[in-house]
Amino acid sequence: MPIKPVRKAVLPVAGLGTRVLPATKVTPKEMLTVFDRPAIHYVVDEARAAGIEHFVFVTGRNKAAIEDYFDSAYELEATLEAKGKTALLNQLKADLPAAGACSFVRQQAPLGLGHAVWCARDIVGDEPFAVLLPDMIMRAQTPCLAAMTKAYGKIGGNIISVEEVPMSEVSSYGIVDPGARKGELIEMKGMVEKPPVDKAPSNLMISGRYILQPEIFDALAEQTPGAGGEIQLTDAMLRLMDTSPFHALPFKGETFDTGSKTGYLRAFAAHALADPEHGAEVRQILEALLKS
Ligand code: G1P
Repeated sequence: MPIKPVRKAVLPVAGLGTRVLPATKVTPKEMLTVFDRPAIHYVVDEARAAGIEHFVFVTGRNKAAIEDYFDSAYELEATLEAKGKTALLNQLKADLPAAGACSFVRQQAPLGLGHAVWCARDIVGDEPFAVLLPDMIMRAQTPCLAAMTKAYGKIGGNIISVEEVPMSEVSSYGIVDPGARKGELIEMKGMVEKPPVDKAPSNLMISGRYILQPEIFDALAEQTPGAGGEIQLTDAMLRLMDTSPFHALPFKGETFDTGSKTGYLRAFAAHALADPEHGAEVRQILEALLKS
């Protein structure tokens, strides 16, 4: 069977961001600034670098700012044009996904990540697709999803990005049961969502990037609540494993979990330090702060 390309990406953005309250009381957590752009901007850029053509945002109440962010801003553009700020204007235009390339669907109740992905089923249809969890900003020479689509192009099936975490952290994540190594990929024998340390099959965490076959929607439709009383994507993937192969791809790069206050700070500082224009000054500011 020919391997169908991955053209669509699902971005679950309905979460309330309770770990970073009060910042997220009014502003969606995905819109919190990581140096000079909202967190979601990095994740959409990563998807675009992997050749994604259509972005399906699974949103909720109070998330309208995300929809506005990926639309053109007529007044702003006209003002920049009138003031001759051409470089800024061109950058804003280049950042914008093509007309018709974004869809927004609401997850009407916070029933879990699996339920959020299932809400995208009609828009994704019968083709493989990517899922990117926007809490995780990934930085690498080859962006994470691009590395995954490359591996997928050779082997097909389902590909999950993984990375090692300290054993003390396994109960915060989905954890993979690894099988044989196949080049850069690892065959998957199983996976478990948020296991206690003594039940974790490894320290390989599911790091928030997935390429999935559309049959996952059938598994999700029947999925009963799991860890935390939520419909878990991990549980549905485990069931799909009986009929569809799963491989893990260890991520070669840095991951920033912006969903916690300190993780957000780390993401902000790292991206500020790496900025070509301001990085050196940022370093001086941080060093001075540490000395004071
Ligand atoms: C979700 C997934 C989990 C994954 C994690 C990565 O959990 O369910 O398998 O390891 O994202 O951030 P959440 O962080 O939504 O609890």
